[in-house]
Amino acid sequence: MRILGISAHYHDSAAALLVDGLPVAAVQEERLSRRKNDAAFPLAAIEWCLEQAGLDPDDLDCVVFYERPGLKFDRILTTLLRSFPHSRRAYAKAMKNMLGEKLWVKGIISSQLGVPSRKILFTEHHQSHAAAAFIAAPCERAAILTADGVGEWATLTVGEGMKRSDGSVAIKLLRELRFPHSLGLFYSTFTAYLGFAINEGEYKVMGLAAYGMPNRVDDVRKLISRTEDRAFALDLSYFDFHGSVESSYSRRFTELFGPPRSPYEPIDLGTFEGRRFADIAASAQRVLEDILVDLAGDLQRETGLTDLCLGGGVALNGVANARVLRESGFDRIFVPPAPGDAGCALGAALYADRLHFGQPHRAVPDHPFWGPKVDPSKLARLAGEDGLSNEVMEDDHGLDMLAGELADGRIIGWMDGALEFGPRALGNRSILAAPHDAAMRDRLNRDIKYREEFRPFAPVVARENADRFFILPPGGERLARFMSGVFPIRPEWRERLAAVTHVDGTARVQILDEEMAPRLRNLIEAYGRRTGVPVLLNTSFNLAGEPIVNGAAEGYSTFRRSGIDILVAANICVRKRHRAHQVQLEDVA
Ligand SMILES: [Fe+2]
Repeated sequence: MRILGISAHYHDSAAALLVDGLPVAAVQEERLSRRKNDAAFPLAAIEWCLEQAGLDPDDLDCVVFYERPGLKFDRILTTLLRSFPHSRRAYAKAMKNMLGEKLWVKGIISSQLGVPSRKILFTEHHQSHAAAAFIAAPCERAAILTADGVGEWATLTVGEGMKRSDGSVAIKLLRELRFPHSLGLFYSTFTAYLGFAINEGEYKVMGLAAYGMPNRVDDVRKLISRTEDRAFALDLSYFDFHGSVESSYSRRFTELFGPPRSPYEPIDLGTFEGRRFADIAASAQRVLEDILVDLAGDLQRETGLTDLCLGGGVALNGVANARVLRESGFDRIFVPPAPGDAGCALGAALYADRLHFGQPHRAVPDHPFWGPKVDPSKLARLAGEDGLSNEVMEDDHGLDMLAGELADGRIIGWMDGALEFGPRALGNRSILAAPHDAAMRDRLNRDIKYREEFRPFAPVVARENADRFFILPPGGERLARFMSGVFPIRPEWRERLAAVTHVDGTARVQILDEEMAPRLRNLIEAYGRRTGVPVLLNTSFNLAGEPIVNGAAEGYSTFRRSGIDILVAANICVRKRHRAHQVQLEDVA
């Protein structure tokens, strides 16, 4: 069967194509349109997926959309009308969105792709999250927990998944929590209060939290309390999900925590205000973790299962994931590379295939590389047009040379193979650098990423060396496969890994298996032979405010506009000309 999954119209839209039960292509629209978090109907992503498989829309057996627009409209309308006229601005925006596009998804898919409406299916939003987390995970039976801001009505579900020996797959979502009671919205409210963009700045809150003391936990708990059925409820007097589309905290919230941070003011951790914001971040983070640990612990005791699949945007919180692993009683936690809404495109397709059509399960390859492949000859051509020469690298010698450049403090833009699906650079579109010196972190922030000092960079290490540098609980390695957990760096290594050590001594490490990204692994090994430390700094290949690079053209443009010294696309390597300039100037002198 050929099934196209689509997620769109809220945040970070995407398409994924399944042929005979396995993904053949998946990509976020932003990577092709070059508009960060592009939420538009993902026409470019769909076209690319079809082209990749050599299919026309006619060849599709089914197109599945990742949520039920009617149910979502029902939730938005009901919620807004309850607080009308207070909500009239939000109401007008919601009506425009829904009536303009969202509600008519079937018509849009049908008219844009020419697919008859009988071939169009809808899954529920959290079914898509659950399927993305469970069906793609290499485990037969697992508990499932999904948590996000909100889908149609559900904000959190718990359940169980099973892949039976006869090939059938079952996903039973046992309970759900409904809007407005939402862990994602709870955290997003603090994100907005702390002056970061909702749906974008949540990881900044997590980074900032490490600088603070969780000394406002009692205040945060006034906002969110446990209920008798061991779920939780928000005290809605602190929130304002209805009245404004820009901020979600109420006057009572600011009376409790003080004035919000202006997005335009830098956070100075040396000031009282800076520390106040860090303490609030630490307290919100702590409460989120406590609740997730409790919910997961209950689920473990209820199901007796050893594996947990986590989905939804909340599963991007690597600090919370690591605590859930340590404290909830599960032995292993699986977080897919794209646990957020983009990943729902793949989740919805998998759900339709296994659950709706009852197709037999086939193990989904355990990697995130479903996007367009980089074309090294294109890089050679682009560089040539600019008068830059390129080197064709033989693997062994080339990687050794690159390891030497990294050891000498050079920054490499690294493109290899197919683009990652999901928000993390996991080895194919990365900026790589030496991890030792804090000055490298500052240089990356200043010349390339232009980001806040409290946001750490991540290390990448091969599996066999991970324990030497990081303190990993049992199961930690799995969580680190897709950078989904934050773990302590061994104290004796923190100084020598200063560029990737967060202020609290932790790192969001990626642990590379042999088959995941073999060339990157070989590069790390070559770097280790030179320096004695087989660890590299790995950050996503993009400039601030831009999506991760896709092909050679974006990579080259980013290279030209930033402080990256060397650009690599597969076996082609290009350097900035400043060395040649120096030689020429010396010659002239
Ligand atoms: Fe979601």
